[in-house]
Amino acid sequence: MSAGVAERFRELYGAGPRGVWAAPGRVNLIGEHTDYNDGFVMPFALPQSALAAVSPRDDGVLRLHSAEAGGDPVVLRVAALAPGEDRAWTAYPAGVVWALREAGHRITGADVHLASAVPPGAGLSSSAALEVVTALALNDLFGLGLTGTVLARLCRRAENAYVGAPVGIMDQTAAACCEAGHALFLDTRDLSRRQIPFDPAAGGLRVLVVDTRVAHAHSAGEYGRRRAGCERGAALLGAAALRDVRYGELDAALERLDGEPEVRRLVRHVVTENRRVERAAELLESGDLRAVGPVLTEGHASLRDDFGVSCPELDLVVDTALAAGALGARMTGGGFGGSAVVLAPEDAAEGVAGAVREAFAGAGFRAPRVFGALPSAGARRVA
Ligand code: GLA
Repeated sequence: MSAGVAERFRELYGAGPRGVWAAPGRVNLIGEHTDYNDGFVMPFALPQSALAAVSPRDDGVLRLHSAEAGGDPVVLRVAALAPGEDRAWTAYPAGVVWALREAGHRITGADVHLASAVPPGAGLSSSAALEVVTALALNDLFGLGLTGTVLARLCRRAENAYVGAPVGIMDQTAAACCEAGHALFLDTRDLSRRQIPFDPAAGGLRVLVVDTRVAHAHSAGEYGRRRAGCERGAALLGAAALRDVRYGELDAALERLDGEPEVRRLVRHVVTENRRVERAAELLESGDLRAVGPVLTEGHASLRDDFGVSCPELDLVVDTALAAGALGARMTGGGFGGSAVVLAPEDAAEGVAGAVREAFAGAGFRAPRVFGALPSAGARRVA
């Protein structure tokens, strides 16, 4: 695939690229809506990646092209990049150039061709893949020497300020820092992390991703509302962030939020979800992969009932998968559509996939996309 991307770059820009880089999409195994509460998350990288063929320029011109969007390259001037104006795909790579320059790094222009195999709008972080692949390419080409963590922070800055989406740090860190064969345990407060061996096949298991192919309206506004509700909860409890409310203090905290039923539910989700991430990490580290299943399912119930970010399609995946023999299942990503992750015994996996497809047809839903996902490599140079 990287040869095809380099060839296309040559057709577009008249000479081969200086290099080709890759950054993956991600599935979050557990730890949802915790990252903007300074909490824990545990994503792993998908085999599907965004590729970027890139050459540096020294004349202040930024040319961007995407295989998916097609058309001619979009021509911009790095000095004129400004947040809030671009609402197209170009905002992701351009936002990264803007964020790097804003942080004082000398980026003098580039020719970029992007091609992504991460399905957009599926809750699998296609936008973080575009950001991180661009950031890593520029980091290498301009000799910036930045770490994965620093690149992830700059990419989130691009998405928050330039694209205008109030997301946390999980997706960019997953794309930048995941390793093949591992899930990434990340403390989103200080960005310390642990690579946790996760080899479903060796344990006789398979991870299935079910892309429901629905994206419900208003998800961006709902995300912002949940985020604001969590901040209110922390403030009412006198905590810097909900991360600081310990699991053992949950009952007392909920009592103090008696007059605030909505905030109360949000708080309960975040506090119990942080506990679930720690629990899942312990189970993976002790080699008890099967026991992770019920932790995932509990997480789904909490997102559905307390946090209110599931939807009928995601609930149907979870219920159907469990009835067909899955060990656990949950929605993954922001919610309101997108994808679910299912942990199934190898010999039940085909049956689970078939049952989900049938249930969707029976409910009159659009056919879902179901695929197996092995924990794959994070961002890297490929040519
Ligand atoms: C989206 C955001 C992440 C995170 C998840 C929910 O994927 O980009 O930062 O908040 O939602 O866990």
